Amino acid sequence: AAVKKYQFDVQVKNVSRICNAKPIVTVNGMFPGPTVYAREGDRVIINVTNHVQYNMSIHWHGLKQYRNGWADGPAYITQCPIQTGQSYVYDFNVTGQRGTLWWHAHILWLRATVYGAIVILPQPGKPYPFPQPYQETNIILGEWWNKDIETAVNQANQLGAPPPMSDAHTINGKPGPLFPCSEKHTFVVEVEAGKTYLLRIINAALNDELFFGIAGHNMTVVEIDAVYTKPFTTKAILLGPGQTTNVLVKTDRSPNRYFMAASPFMDAPVSVDNKTVTAILQYKGVPNTVIPILPKLPLPNDTSFALDYNGKLKSLNTPNFPALVPLKVDRRLFYTIGLGINACPTCVNGTNLAASINNVTFIMPKIALLKAHYSNISGVFRTDFPDRPPKAFNYTGVPLTANLGTSTGTRLSRVKFNTTIELVLQDTNLLTVESHPFHLHGYNFFVVGTGVGNFDPKKDPAKFNLIDPPERNTVGVPTGGWAAIRFRADNPGVWFMHCHLEVHTMWGLKMAFVVENGKTPELSVLPPPKDYPSC
Ligand code: C2O
Repeated sequence: AAVKKYQFDVQVKNVSRICNAKPIVTVNGMFPGPTVYAREGDRVIINVTNHVQYNMSIHWHGLKQYRNGWADGPAYITQCPIQTGQSYVYDFNVTGQRGTLWWHAHILWLRATVYGAIVILPQPGKPYPFPQPYQETNIILGEWWNKDIETAVNQANQLGAPPPMSDAHTINGKPGPLFPCSEKHTFVVEVEAGKTYLLRIINAALNDELFFGIAGHNMTVVEIDAVYTKPFTTKAILLGPGQTTNVLVKTDRSPNRYFMAASPFMDAPVSVDNKTVTAILQYKGVPNTVIPILPKLPLPNDTSFALDYNGKLKSLNTPNFPALVPLKVDRRLFYTIGLGINACPTCVNGTNLAASINNVTFIMPKIALLKAHYSNISGVFRTDFPDRPPKAFNYTGVPLTANLGTSTGTRLSRVKFNTTIELVLQDTNLLTVESHPFHLHGYNFFVVGTGVGNFDPKKDPAKFNLIDPPERNTVGVPTGGWAAIRFRADNPGVWFMHCHLEVHTMWGLKMAFVVENGKTPELSVLPPPKDYPSC
């Protein structure tokens, strides 16, 4: 195993997109930021130095950080932020994982521009369990706002209104030629005919689930969230924010220029986002003047595509890559996901939008929860997060507009070491139904079942897939439906769980698990590093 070292200088850089120039926060002046490369088993040491006016914190999304939450990154959950002029070293091992993950700022909305890919290659001599690609390319989907995003979000919050939609989507930071002034901001990947390419696709958008496809070409899905899958071929894929998907593409079409494109899956009735971001797959020798062909992507409200596509995802589940699904469940949790409206004394109308799990809107603490847990500092959080909603109701029936008020608190759920958890995430029609990409830090989990409507504890578990369910770190909870996940709580520490739509996270759609230490020091949280930031 090797040691991989990186220096991340968080700094402002002037960038122009779609006819607008503005200063943005970057790592090393790059947008997107640098790719972190490692091999399975490597140690990665990344020194992050903050040169901007904002507090900073970086999360390595999907890395398990075994016993080492100190390097996980979510601000006020596992660490206090890195203040202006300060540095912090994220020092972690990449154990038992290989594939595509990503890193992003985990404070305010700064991940709008502070993000990049993490590519973990298999150990030397261990091939991929699929045809060896000729070349690999990262495809990072993102969003661009013409306004300064922090200013825009603050203004919206004052008004108690939702923050503005982005002005463009991007592929590797570039909106592509369908947006104004963007001809020169187009990502082009040059390919040779008759080869196989591996695309590592990451959804780094803040608030949009996205379809992605390539004109004229099929894609073979081989990995999601850095876990190998049973390969299947499709014309389009769907990724929620936080999710990653590796696909193989054969360049078996007539040499030409083909658009790769992404467009939103916006199934909530209130959404009207229909932007299309494009990049170009260009066969060698084809002149730049040829106008590319667009792929046909599912329509923004194509819920049946989403259900069908997600249903095809299965763990590879071979002797080398077994799906270790917990078969016996020690504890069952049922969490309702809802939007709401809460009092806001500082807002213009006295109210602001809210979101909650089991009617609890999570309030961020003033010092890091992991530190409070490790050092037994009392009064920072409570461990009475409810295992189920205060009362059962028809979760997905007629829109519920009464009783939108939520309770608030920094409430966590305490979990015994090495117990197995089954968690059903139930979307609700409080305010509106919506698909929620739910992300758990510190773990992968198995998605053993999904469905539309209300989860039925009597009938639905019989249909669970306990053989080869997809293993991932972020699950799309279906619109007006539910997702059941299972995991073994073998990683002690404090682990954040939240909707990866930034607007919902901000409104409180988040909570955390405190996973207790095991019996021995080897099964306990490591001591914090010397340069661990204080608040
Ligand atoms: Cu990628 Cu807590 O997030």
